[in-house]
Amino acid sequence: MPIRVLPSTVVNRIAAGEVVERPASAVKELVENAIDAGATRIEVTLRDGGRSLISVVDDGCGMSAGELDLAVERHATSKLPDDDLTHIATLGFRGEALPSIGAVGRLTITSRRAGSDGAWMLAVEGGAKGAVQPAALGAGTRVELRDLFYATPARLKFLKATRTEVDHVEDAINRLAMAHPEIGFTLMDDAKPVLRLGAATADLLSDATAARLARLAQVMGRDFADNALPIDAARDGVRLTGYIGLPTLHRATAAWQFLFVNGRPVRDRLLQGAVRGAYQDFLARDRHPMVALFLDLPAELVDVNVHPTKAEVRFRDAALVRGLIVGAARHALGAAGHRAATTVAGAALAGFRPGGGERPPMPSTGLLHQAMASFAPLAPAASRGLAEERAGFAGPAAPPPAADDPAPEAAYPLGAARAQLHETYIVAQTADGIVIVDQHAAHERLVYERMKRALGEGGVARQGLLIPEVVELEEAAVARLAARADELAELGLVLEPFGPGAVVVREAPALLGETDLVGLVRDLADELAEWGAALSLRERLEEVCGTLACHGSVRAGRRLNPPEMNALLREMEATPHSGQCNHGRPTYVELKLDDIERLFGRR
Ligand SMILES: Nc1ncnc2c1ncn2[C@@H]1O[C@H](COP(=O)(O)OP(=O)(O)OP(=O)(O)O)[C@@H](O)[C@H]1O
Ligand SMILES: [Mg+2]
Repeated sequence: MPIRVLPSTVVNRIAAGEVVERPASAVKELVENAIDAGATRIEVTLRDGGRSLISVVDDGCGMSAGELDLAVERHATSKLPDDDLTHIATLGFRGEALPSIGAVGRLTITSRRAGSDGAWMLAVEGGAKGAVQPAALGAGTRVELRDLFYATPARLKFLKATRTEVDHVEDAINRLAMAHPEIGFTLMDDAKPVLRLGAATADLLSDATAARLARLAQVMGRDFADNALPIDAARDGVRLTGYIGLPTLHRATAAWQFLFVNGRPVRDRLLQGAVRGAYQDFLARDRHPMVALFLDLPAELVDVNVHPTKAEVRFRDAALVRGLIVGAARHALGAAGHRAATTVAGAALAGFRPGGGERPPMPSTGLLHQAMASFAPLAPAASRGLAEERAGFAGPAAPPPAADDPAPEAAYPLGAARAQLHETYIVAQTADGIVIVDQHAAHERLVYERMKRALGEGGVARQGLLIPEVVELEEAAVARLAARADELAELGLVLEPFGPGAVVVREAPALLGETDLVGLVRDLADELAEWGAALSLRERLEEVCGTLACHGSVRAGRRLNPPEMNALLREMEATPHSGQCNHGRPTYVELKLDDIERLFGRR
């Protein structure tokens, strides 16, 4: 496509503003140009964090002498052939970047048009353009920017420490690289390599999702790739793909949440909100999951021309996009069942190691976890077993296998229960490792999920008490409980005032099993005081379930027999989200035999 100067009618419709505020913004523009030029390798070099030199070298299509001469003019672009700002398929479209960069430093561009027999060079210093001259270059384009802000020293004062500027540059390259696994990227700072992202090999590229996951692993870490759930959903012409991390893999900030719109990295508050919505049941408020999501939609459904550095976009239908993200993420989390992140096992193993601290190699996770993800859930336990059996977990009737017997349960992802330790932890044997379950955390999660399901299906099953339980309380507590009696009944707890200083409990949630009702009612009364009247109990379901589960049959400290333990494991396998408790803590840890053997130096 030839470069031309845009007509002023188009120029006036382009979101204008400061393009270069720090080295990273210049790098972003130059790397975007290299990507638009079809490069397969892009090399970025900095000196002094970009203050003295920024160099970007690519092997893309290059420019002829005439194109080079035009490229540094304002509003000259090859990317808007028909003045149509609503169908933008390239990262650039304004013809602003090179002239803006040429205005704030000493810019030299050397380029060789693919197929031509010579290269050309052009210098722009503080906005003054020189003449195009013959030069030497094998292929592609080399852009060098020296002495950034030499003509506007005031801006130098706003730059941060070199390390910080380099971090910003790395961040900008990483974001662009995530959307382009077919391109190799390197970043050098004062001759030190900072970043090296090899291009996906040809056979990897034949599988676009594998190539993308490999690139995401390079940028977001192996942990993410090992613990990410694939997303693929579409609605009304909008397609969402990418990966989201398991809730047990969380971070202190939302910095590890990435959104790409038609291949363009954008920062959009919509993403954070949608992600928070999707994970709200699984994560504490101050923890954030890791996600990388790619939206592809017809150009007319998104406006990329709303922000001077193109960092934000505007969706024609933001609600549709939000709904798609929340729906797809919830679905993936639901389908992941009880998976907990492998990082948990990694940390546990690190703890065992003499000297601690140092991270062990990640356990070889992939296969078993994939097997778990595709594991067909058992029939939901809602209507049988636990729900009706006050005795607690009445599991498969099979007796516990003798130690040397191959246990049929070992074929299950969470294995066959072998022991209960400290009346709190269940140890199970799987086909190739061991699983340690925190029975209390697991039960809390199961109660929560069952309760949510039951509420969705019209109400929590109640169990009438043969002998109603009278609980003595102070008057204010009785009043608080009485005020919430209808809501509590919906959750399966039927009680009424019994004189001024007591309530009588007539029915209890069947799914709790044998329950310490006195403790439960007292705790609930205390919590109602704390929560105030503002929120409905449904909105506090997490806390209510936590309290209920606390007094249910499987709390820590209760001894379980083998069928009960196995029933708990089987129910975890069949229950979505049971790999973590309501706060993103794991409910179980899995250690592979390989890793245990390594602990003992057997490997
Ligand atoms: N590395 C490169 N390889 C080949 N051509 C390039 C390269 N960099 C710039 N160009 C050409 O120079 C033109 C001007 O680049 P510039 O970055 O100023 O504008 P743009 O990319 O068109 O739009 P934007 O301002 O949105 O980035 C481009 O349209 C492209 O034709
Ligand atoms: Mg550009």
